[in-house]
Order: sequence, then structure tokens, then C-alpha cells
Amino acid sequence: MSDLAVRFRKLWDELAPVGRDSGSGGYLRYALTEPELALREWFRAEAYRRGMPVTADGNGNLFAWWGDPEAGDAVLTGSHFDSVPHGGAYDGPLGIVSAFLAVDELRAAQVIPDRPIAVAAFVEEEGGRFGVPCLGSRLLTGEIAVERAAGLRDAAGVSFAEALGFEPAGAGPGLLGRFAAFVELHVEQGRALVDLGAPVAVASAIWPHGRWRFDFAGEGNHAGTTRMADRRDPMLTYAFTVLAANKEARLRDAHATVGRVAVEPNATNAIPSKVTGWLDARAAEPETLHGLVEAVRAKAAERAKRDGTELTCTQESATPLVSFDGGLAGRLAALLDAPVLPTGAGHDAGVLAAHLPTAMLFVRNPTGVSHSPAESATDADCAAGVTALARVLEELACR
Ligand code: GLV
Ligand code: MN
Ligand code: MN
Ligand code: MN
Repeated sequence: MSDLAVRFRKLWDELAPVGRDSGSGGYLRYALTEPELALREWFRAEAYRRGMPVTADGNGNLFAWWGDPEAGDAVLTGSHFDSVPHGGAYDGPLGIVSAFLAVDELRAAQVIPDRPIAVAAFVEEEGGRFGVPCLGSRLLTGEIAVERAAGLRDAAGVSFAEALGFEPAGAGPGLLGRFAAFVELHVEQGRALVDLGAPVAVASAIWPHGRWRFDFAGEGNHAGTTRMADRRDPMLTYAFTVLAANKEARLRDAHATVGRVAVEPNATNAIPSKVTGWLDARAAEPETLHGLVEAVRAKAAERAKRDGTELTCTQESATPLVSFDGGLAGRLAALLDAPVLPTGAGHDAGVLAAHLPTAMLFVRNPTGVSHSPAESATDADCAAGVTALARVLEELACR
């Protein structure tokens, strides 16, 4: 193993137990809960060890600085600590650990940047606690209204502002303006790099995507005594909608997932009074995504009439098509001799791309699996990712 791979493993092992569920082997690192707060403390300690002052933006995002935070024109890197329920180890933390190691590499090579380099830990990237993905970067860029973000509530009714301990600041002047570019390193969430036989890629685009909440209301009643003909069962409408989403996505070469469901009262011997399903839909083009969601919505509404149920559909988040700065992606791909790939996954880089020249690096994932405990990357590939990120930071921060 290379010396860098050994250093990667040492740092990585420090994070491994934090928020790990011993049953599934996956992570429960929801934003601003104990495990994620422990990782933020780890972030502060690693920054301190490197003599990097840490600033907060009033939205829950943290920045560790190599150079003067006030100087402007900084090159930003980093990612997020939070996970989806029972998520993998790499999605998010890999970008932060790699960023600190890339700083170490540059310093060991006695590189002196002409502009500051900052390492970011963004809050609530997955939307796993408050429902809106990339909440921290949306606040920083002004892509979400402060009042809406502050009032988002988790399953226990705690608001984002309460979890933060203060009202989010939003995109105050001088926050985003400090940064000249952003580069997020992330584990690949597919198998393209396995097929290409390459350890690292540069991102070209993020598919447009969003989340829609489908509430189906019916009549709760006794499972044993209610005649089949008399039922208004929202579970039927829900089940039909899941199948319709799958069919409509396949017809369009798009992706539709219902990965979360809530049932009331959730009793084996009661017809539900309400079922809520969350649709995650993604497609290569915005028109395809729009067509997909409208088709699912129409089919669900039609079926609701048949079942005597009521449907309310609410869009909870939207991420437009992101085309990363083509000039920058091309420059980095040439620098690293790396392939260029699109992705269907959302990232803070996708939010920042509308405001700053932004790029992403992907590190090969041998299983191709993500948002699951099976997510993985070899230490050698993670070291290759750090080397690539260090080269990119040097390219961007040295005139
Ligand atoms: C987040 O990783 C997403 O793509 O939903
Ligand atoms: Mn993710
Ligand atoms: Mn991620
Ligand atoms: Mn993501």
C-alpha cells in the first residue's frame, strides 16, 4: 500500500464507528444529530491540527481555511457528513477526508497557493432529516428562502432552526463572494469507472431531479368486517402509483423510485386511513422528467377516483439540470487524463454550479452500489482521488 493510502486508511478508520448501525452495518448520520455533530467536532480538530481556522456561515455549513478567509477568490473543496438512513461510509465524508489529505499533499510538496483554499462540510446534503436535499448549499446560495428552510421539520417535529440553535442566515453578502471555484470529490454512485478501468473521473452533468410527496387519503376501517366493495383503501392507490411510476420511468429511460412510505394507522388489521409515498424522479432532460411526473400524477389521480380516495401531490424539492462548467471539466480531464461522466445523483456541487465555476471528481466504486452499506472504494483508489484533488487544487489556486 502506498504511504498516502496508509494515511487515508488511518484517517478513515477514525470516522468508521461514528453513527454506524451494528445491525445493518450502514450509517445513521442525520444532520445535526449526535453522530453528525461528532463528525463536525472531528472536522474542527483536523482543521486545528493543520492550523486551519474554521468559520461558520450561519446556515450550518463549516469552512476550514488554508489562507485568509477574508482574502476572497478562494478555491473551495469538501462535501458533507450526513447520510441517508443506513447509508454507506463514502457518500459525503470521502470528499472531506480527501480534501484535508490533499491539503497535506500540497503542503508536503511545498506548494504555496496564490489564493486561499477552503475545505467545506455542508449540512443536510441528503435531506435525510428535514426532507430537502442540499439544504446548506441552497441556503448559502439563496436557492431556498430562509423562512422555508428554518421551518422544515424532522419526523419528531424539530425544526431546522431549532436543530441549528438559531435562525439560518441565508445568503448574506460576502459569504459566497469569498469563493472563486468549487470542486467536490465524491465516491462514484454507479459502475462506469469499473467498466472504464479508471480510478477517477470528472463530472460533466447532473440529471435534473426532484422529490414529490403523494398523500392518499381514504377511510380507515376494520380489516375483518368491511366488505371489499365498501372500502376506500388508499394503499391500493399507492400501490398502483408505485407500479405506474416504474412503468413510466422505464418507457422514458428515466429513473423513478418510491423509497419511503408512511401508513396511518399502520396496523395489520386496519384498512389504512392514509398512505404517503415519496417519489424521487430523475431524467437526463428536464422535459422527460416533467413528462414522467405528470404521467404518474395523472395515473394516480385517475386511480384515486376508482378507489374512492383523495390524492394530494406536493413537490418538495427540485434540482434543475446541471451542466458543469465545460471549460473547467475539460481542463481537469486533460490534467488528470480522466474520463468525463454524467450522474443521476444530486450534490452540493450541483447547487453551487449555478453560482461559481464548479467541478466534481468521482472515485471508482467497485460495487457500484451507493445509499447502502455495500457502498465501497479501495484505499488505493481513494489515494488516487486525493492525488487528483491535490493536482486540481494546485491548478486552480496557483496562478
Ligand atoms: C443525494 O445523494 C441524491 O442524489 O439524492
Ligand atoms: Mn447521497
Ligand atoms: Mn453525497
Ligand atoms: Mn448527494
